[in-house]
Amino acid sequence: MCGIVAYIGSKNAPNVLIDGLTKLEYRGYDSAGIAVINKDKIDVYRSVGKLINLKNMLDEKKPVSNIGIGHTRWATHGKPSYENAHPHSSFGISLVHNGIIENYLDIKRNLADKGYKFESETDTEVIAHLIHSNYKDDIFEAVKVSVKQIKGSFALAVISVNEPDKIILARHDSPLVIGISDGENFAASDIPALISYTNKFIFLEENDIAILTKNSVTCYDFEGKKTDREVKIVDINPVMAEKAGYRHFMQKEIFEQPRAIIDTIRGKYSLENGELLLDELKSIDIKKYRRVNIVACGTSWHAGLVGKFYIEKFAKIPVEVDIASEYRYRDTIIDEETLFIAISQSGETADTIAAMRLAKSRGAGILSICNVIGSTIPRESDATFFTHAGPEIGVASTKAFTTQVIALLMLALYFAQEKQTLNHVEIRNILTEIVKLPEKMEEALKLDSHIEEMAKDFKSFPSFLYLGRNVNYPIALEGALKLKEISYIHAEGYPAGEMKHGPIALIDKNMPVFIIATDSKVYDKVLANIQEVKARDGIVIATVTEGNKDVEKFTEYCIKLPAAVEELSVFLNSIVIQLLAYHISAELGLDVDQPRNLAKSVTVE
Ligand code: G6P
Repeated sequence: MCGIVAYIGSKNAPNVLIDGLTKLEYRGYDSAGIAVINKDKIDVYRSVGKLINLKNMLDEKKPVSNIGIGHTRWATHGKPSYENAHPHSSFGISLVHNGIIENYLDIKRNLADKGYKFESETDTEVIAHLIHSNYKDDIFEAVKVSVKQIKGSFALAVISVNEPDKIILARHDSPLVIGISDGENFAASDIPALISYTNKFIFLEENDIAILTKNSVTCYDFEGKKTDREVKIVDINPVMAEKAGYRHFMQKEIFEQPRAIIDTIRGKYSLENGELLLDELKSIDIKKYRRVNIVACGTSWHAGLVGKFYIEKFAKIPVEVDIASEYRYRDTIIDEETLFIAISQSGETADTIAAMRLAKSRGAGILSICNVIGSTIPRESDATFFTHAGPEIGVASTKAFTTQVIALLMLALYFAQEKQTLNHVEIRNILTEIVKLPEKMEEALKLDSHIEEMAKDFKSFPSFLYLGRNVNYPIALEGALKLKEISYIHAEGYPAGEMKHGPIALIDKNMPVFIIATDSKVYDKVLANIQEVKARDGIVIATVTEGNKDVEKFTEYCIKLPAAVEELSVFLNSIVIQLLAYHISAELGLDVDQPRNLAKSVTVE
């Protein structure tokens, strides 16, 4: 949801800014811009559409400067247009902003009364004029006064032509990290933007303002009191944020899943002892809690639905799974006996953060599952299980999802161990299956070309139905979501048993129905569902377990997966639904990694 970047040092700032924005484009891509200080003026370059348009403009104009700020936008206030693109400026001050200013109309009225003219419809331009109206001779002071006058969420990077040796940063409810290097410093919404320049980071905290010069970083709170912020070393291989020969990031990330699962569970268990070793969860005494609330958005919510099966089955604790934007506005029953689990790839989803803060205020224990170190959700949690998916660039989530699911399985087993609802032999038996999983996922990935061929037959259908039961029901939801997100084909996910209560009315010869029919305790029921679809001329696409002979009698689109226990079949089925959506989108020639209207990280409500 908008990406910002800033640079001061001896390199050519426009190059660093464009490079950083390229890595942040997943956050928004409807317009982009940079502002650089050029002697006694600020030059602003903005362009509508993808970043490539801005890149081409800069290739032609070749600006030179050692200090600048950049932005890639996902529109909230005002449509994508040149005027609404950031940076926004006011008399020698320019800034970029990620977030939403809630009281911008009030401020705008006051500023208009003072004679300020507005060229855009954005809330951001208001901040630029507000800072200018508070400016005497010190840009830090002007920003400090201004942030107290604005309500909402913001990560800001501000430059002033009068003070060309510094960048002012401020954060409130939107992420901002500082990258530190010798004789140069950086800032960005997210680490991947800077990882090719440095591995030393300061994660700004809520209500921090920082002054960035070539050789120093100084942090303050909104009152102007200096704060100590630790410099952290982050080890991400810069290559992880590159396509590495794949056509799209999404394709690469689908293929990275076996590795991501291994990295996520590494060091967290002893197979020999049938034991989970989750030291990071020591502060959570699971015996204290009578219920679990899992809260998330989008694909992370689907992971939460799988997690419910695991926790209820293994740890025998009742689990409710909620969409964050619903949880926070209903009269949810939360108390000290509630364990709240936030699932978020980015750790910055606004609704999930708000739901977490609500649960915290009611005394719930807060546990999170997150992929981004230093992000808001883990910072505000009592304990975090970090997934090690590595940077996920494709907007449609793939490896982040399966690593969240494995984290939930490990968590469920850990709770079972602590509550002694499973003994060590039972835990060892499940761990033995988990250890074999990455190899089975590699096998499933070999179906890639088979699924690519199938995608050719399905790319022109206007609508799909996805069905699954039990632990694979959330995978049906995820399958439908993946297809919608990247191919713009309407799709609905349903629990297969509910088909008769509505969706069956849609089935005819033009309706492909993707059915998850891998071995499970509900296999016979699913087989009956397949027959019901066939009886109405629907086209069945089905996943089955190797050796299955029933389903191919009903369809030529039968995808055979390695045998796995039901709880783990979700990982193999996930690969199939991801590959099918991917290949349909690629066949249609669509923008797989940056689908229209979406953003990777939804940092506004
Ligand atoms: C957006 C993304 C989804 C993601 C959801 C939740 O909608 O496009 O891929 O699942 O946000 O994001 P989070 O970072 O909280 O998991």
